[in-house]
Amino acid sequence: MFHVAIIGCGGIAQVHASVLSRLPNTEIIACADIRPERASAMAEKTGCRAYDSLDALLEAEHPDCVHLCVPHALHAPMALQAALRGIAVFSEKPPAVTREQWAELEEAAEKVPLGICFQNRYNPNVKEAERILASGEYGALLGSRAFVTWHREAPYYSESGWRGTWALEGGGVLVNQAVHTLDLLIRFMGRPEQIEAHMANRHLRGVIEVEDTVEAYLKCGGKPALFYATTAYTSDAPVLIDLNLEKATLRLEADELEIRTPAGVERCTFELPKTLGKDYWGTGHFACIADFYASIEEERRYQNDLESVRFTEEAMLGIIEAAKGDLN
Ligand SMILES: NC(=O)c1ccc[n+]([C@@H]2O[C@H](COP(=O)([O-])OP(=O)(O)OC[C@H]3O[C@@H](n4cnc5c(N)ncnc54)[C@H](O)[C@@H]3O)[C@@H](O)[C@H]2O)c1
Repeated sequence: MFHVAIIGCGGIAQVHASVLSRLPNTEIIACADIRPERASAMAEKTGCRAYDSLDALLEAEHPDCVHLCVPHALHAPMALQAALRGIAVFSEKPPAVTREQWAELEEAAEKVPLGICFQNRYNPNVKEAERILASGEYGALLGSRAFVTWHREAPYYSESGWRGTWALEGGGVLVNQAVHTLDLLIRFMGRPEQIEAHMANRHLRGVIEVEDTVEAYLKCGGKPALFYATTAYTSDAPVLIDLNLEKATLRLEADELEIRTPAGVERCTFELPKTLGKDYWGTGHFACIADFYASIEEERRYQNDLESVRFTEEAMLGIIEAAKGDLN
């Protein structure tokens, strides 16, 4: 049985708690939040002990693993703090928002199992697209494109206390909403060796310091990966990724997969688990967290270990470095 602590008891922590309560090999023993009422509510809901900081929790408890559900800039320092005590880490995305923080994560991952919550990698349509690519049945991958057009208004930022700031969020739509899609794009395409990008504030100019819109032209293995993300749309439209192969285009839209050839469109069908949180968080948290603990028990590599997110992190930081000046 893994004894687990949840750090940060806001929105996504509820999904982690729900998964951890259902898994047969995990038990939530403690939680922490700087807003004590949130930690108390989590403690009451899950029957664990509540603390008002990670420091206080680590003084009193020795969990086997911490789940980091805190603002982005806290992921890496908290991961290292836990790892130095020999405690495994399962962190929400994005892994790190600076190169210095990435180095902290590398140090942590040398000491303990460390997993990153890119749950969409577990989606059946993503797995099937990976299988088709590897099979080579539709020829080589020539290029790709991805669109995230979602809706976020000013209160989403102003009420959180951390979103919308370079210091704590570390970026806007790119690092928060669209990093899942960037992660999939890079997983399909490979390491980005060239990055050109622009950012802007369209509907949230004057409200947030980070971007609400970003576009990037990446070259991976000499092939183009085109990326566009914004929170200026009027709803959370399904994310769309096209993978253009020699003999077909694979279209991933939300949980679906289409194989589009000159002969027509073939729709793949999948059995989907129920979502545990908001629809746009997808259904992958359960599989992603369950696999983390199974990988430790089975002493095998975890699919979402730090090494597996290196190219995504390079792409994310590369886009920020290329485009951040546009906001000045
Ligand atoms: N994988 C996904 O699909 C998904 C979805 C939503 C959020 N997230 C990620 O989860 C993380 C949290 O996002 P959220 O939407 O739950 O935010 P949130 O604001 O709802 O929750 C964050 C919580 O962390 C607490 N906190 C802040 N500083 C702290 C500290 N020093 N110690 C302890 N607690 C602290 C806050 O008080 C808050 O309760 C972010 O990294 C976000 O990107 C991932």
